[in-house]
Amino acid sequence: MSPLHVVILAAGQGSRMKSALPKVLHPVAGKPMLHHVIDRARDLGAAGIHTVIGHGADHVKAITPADDLNWVLQAQQLGTGHAVAQALPALPDDARVLVLYGDVPLTTTATLERLIGQLDDSTLGLLTVTLDNPEGYGRIVRDDAGKVTAIVEQKDASAAQKNITEVNTGILAVSAMHLKSWLPALSNSNAQREYYLTDIIAMAGKEELTIAVSQPSDPFEVQGVNNRIQLAQLERWYQRRQAERLMTEGATLADPDRIDVRGNLRVGQDVMIDVNVVFEGEVDVAEGVVIGPGCVIRNSRIATGAVIHAHSVIDGAEIGASAQIGPFARLRAGTRLAANTKVGNFVETKKATLGEGSKINHLSYVGDATLGANVNVGAGTITCNYDGVNKFQTVLGDGVFVGSNTALVAPVTVAENATIGAGSTITQDIKAGELAIARGRQRNIPDWPKPKKKA
Ligand code: UD1
Ligand code: CA
Repeated sequence: MSPLHVVILAAGQGSRMKSALPKVLHPVAGKPMLHHVIDRARDLGAAGIHTVIGHGADHVKAITPADDLNWVLQAQQLGTGHAVAQALPALPDDARVLVLYGDVPLTTTATLERLIGQLDDSTLGLLTVTLDNPEGYGRIVRDDAGKVTAIVEQKDASAAQKNITEVNTGILAVSAMHLKSWLPALSNSNAQREYYLTDIIAMAGKEELTIAVSQPSDPFEVQGVNNRIQLAQLERWYQRRQAERLMTEGATLADPDRIDVRGNLRVGQDVMIDVNVVFEGEVDVAEGVVIGPGCVIRNSRIATGAVIHAHSVIDGAEIGASAQIGPFARLRAGTRLAANTKVGNFVETKKATLGEGSKINHLSYVGDATLGANVNVGAGTITCNYDGVNKFQTVLGDGVFVGSNTALVAPVTVAENATIGAGSTITQDIKAGELAIARGRQRNIPDWPKPKKKA
């Protein structure tokens, strides 16, 4: 089959966003709209992805991973037909060409596959949608036999044409060969003085091409974003679909309208997710995990039966089976917790490994540390891992007991079953089974005359 090339139009300014950020870089589900569209082109296995940019071109290029992209500059935005024409030199004659829009981010791969599935040299695939309120869109004009004959833009439409509710989504597919003959022939003698891509429909009709129309499963799939209200509507539609997918896969959501997934979340059965939980990046949550309200979980894996209590922030962590986290815990990158561990309230961990059954229950910072099994870290313990220049390791063996308010000045190693008295500042290694106490000795002075207020 002839190679598929995708042309993405993303040169417009998007002035109604009222933003310094180019419109196509505004995120939906944490990812720039344009990147959603590029991902769909990749899903389709496109041989070439040609992105037409203009407004904010440097910014768009700077934040878009582009190994497989061809950037096409449209210096002046003279219309959608003109935009596609800028990509023509890069399109092989035998290509099938799919036109997508950088500000229409949520079209599904299935819908696009249906559209291009109908394509051959004598067929143009057109994606349309029927809307209760077609205001602003190009209208699909059909003859008495129902054949599509033209698209008429709102501003050029007659009163009768304005009543048509089937509208152009903008998305279409046709062979490069046809585009190369039609686009140079476009004129801009219309209400907007633009070169309309939509005029190729009438050209195709004249040349007896078949116009094969398909429609998306949901109008939101082809909803473009012109302002922040539409951006928020698309975001909510996307999130609602994610919520429904999760419930279908066996997760209970306290409120499907109060969960946000900005990335890829995989869940096992009987996962319970309370309100206002945000997932970012790649997150795996195994069977039976319970996640309390207000948690933020990013690029992490949580094993079976773990419980994440309210308002915990988890980033780059691996949490073992039946572990108990939070409330108000912060697990940072490189945290590895074995099964049955506990990290409690106001505890921060970073590059910390905890062996099975170990606990840090309250008010601690544990960073650059390796803890064996069944270690108990008392409240207010700090690993002093940083001298202002370099980071150092703390190692606590199996069964170590760290008394409350201990400072562990790294590098330091505490061997198994050692005990540290509360309030100690530990600067030297401790051998197995030893008790270390490093604090000022208490003196009790009897009959102390309390100071009196001056006259
Ligand atoms: C276009 C269609 C209309 C359709 C609607 C769907 C035309 C003439 N009209 O209208 O039939 O119903 O989309 O939303 O095609 N762009 C460029 N360069 C340009 C002009 C536009 O890259 O010179 C990009 C814009 O950034 C935008 C997209 O193309 O992403 C659509 O352009 P826009 O001006 O919004 O077209 P509409 O008037 O909405
Ligand atoms: Ca538009």
